[in-house]
Amino acid sequence: MSKIERANFGSKLGVILATAGSAVGLGNVWRFPYMAGENGGAVFIIIYVGCVLLLGIPCMISEFIVGRHGQSNTARAFRKLAGGTPRALIGYMGVLTGFLITGYYAVVSGWCLQYMWASLSGHLQGDPEYFKTYFMEMSSDPVKPVFWTVVILLMAHLIIENGVRNGIEKASKVMMPTLFVLLLLIVGASCMLPNAYKGVEFLFKPDFSKIDSDVFLGALGQSFYSMSIAMGCLCTYASYFSEKTNLTKAASQIAIIDCVVAILAGLMIFPAAFSVGVEPDSGPSLIFITLPNVFQQAFSGMPVMGYIISLLFFVLLSLAALTSLMSLHEVSTAFVQEELHTTRRRAALAVTVTTAIIGAFCSLSLGAYDGLTFFGEALFDWFDFVTGQIFLPVVGFLTCIFIGWYVPHQIVRDEFSNRGELKDYVRYFHRYLFLIKYVCPLAILFIFLHQLGLLN
Ligand code: PHE
Repeated sequence: MSKIERANFGSKLGVILATAGSAVGLGNVWRFPYMAGENGGAVFIIIYVGCVLLLGIPCMISEFIVGRHGQSNTARAFRKLAGGTPRALIGYMGVLTGFLITGYYAVVSGWCLQYMWASLSGHLQGDPEYFKTYFMEMSSDPVKPVFWTVVILLMAHLIIENGVRNGIEKASKVMMPTLFVLLLLIVGASCMLPNAYKGVEFLFKPDFSKIDSDVFLGALGQSFYSMSIAMGCLCTYASYFSEKTNLTKAASQIAIIDCVVAILAGLMIFPAAFSVGVEPDSGPSLIFITLPNVFQQAFSGMPVMGYIISLLFFVLLSLAALTSLMSLHEVSTAFVQEELHTTRRRAALAVTVTTAIIGAFCSLSLGAYDGLTFFGEALFDWFDFVTGQIFLPVVGFLTCIFIGWYVPHQIVRDEFSNRGELKDYVRYFHRYLFLIKYVCPLAILFIFLHQLGLLN
């Protein structure tokens, strides 16, 4: 009965684009390409794809199963399957992880907007030193980054407030195709530069000697983060899927989009960087310091082109960040709306205000206000560490155990095969169950111990 009332995505394309919007984010641009280049090129990419197929997709399907079965926010969806046991806490942890990371992710998303504005207004020009100082001053400023954090949160807010179909789905249908077009344009421009092949070589050249356990675990961790696993996003979005959505197919299509974007991001970054002889790196400094400089130098013969590419790049980043931020915001909004029985508007407002406060503190901890450091690390870095390195693996691990060992297999099978309608998939069910029962939890346990330095 409640199934009829519940909001849902209006089309298959909407499902894929919205969920791929969550998956495609800053992680695809600032970490994957560099990891691939540094860790054995094509060999790394094959390992990464292996992780996605064997571990990422089954974990994604599991969250889809919980969400679509529950037809509600992540906490309630787990509660429905937990039968009054403390296992329901996994859902609450998922919501908490999503909530905490929203504030942190909003800060970095805000930087993307600020850079978009700076490139538009022509402020992103100067020598390499200038870009470094610009970033340092920008990120430690007490006002500007907080302002842009609030702006991007308000953008997410306005979309979310309009609901699932009119907000999230419509926005994703515009933003995701735009993102692809921009990506292809920049890849084209980058690959036409002199010596671009060196960058392509860096990204793809197979080097087996680089492969060790670190690389495996790094690929695994990155695949989970990149697929938005364990943050409540997949579960929440899946609660808006229809009964007919083929979960395995959807997960596979989203994974393909995510991988393709990550590889294209490499083809956007490295050819340009190598053509001007700049060593690429990863993380915020890659996109906010190295690349603006690279684009400017690479197109120094045609300054207009440099201006345009730099602007398009930051538009692309802002779109990637916003679609991910939206999915994070939705986790908490759905939770507040359904658990506190309030309107979507009020729920979204509560989430926007609280995450803006968290975001502001994270941002101020980067230099504007010294009191926001703990044990020598800024609050910003703590959020990154706690959500990404602790909560993500813990929630991911517990979700696998929950689905594989505790939820009645009949329920899991029904969701997996749409109550037997997807005949072919009944056959795959045992493979999926095997992965989720044994392989995924073990793999996540390894990443966790590795990240904590207890295993190498
Ligand atoms: N998957 C996103 C990225 O690649 C990050 C993200 C994680 C977004 C979890 C939402 C939820 O950047």
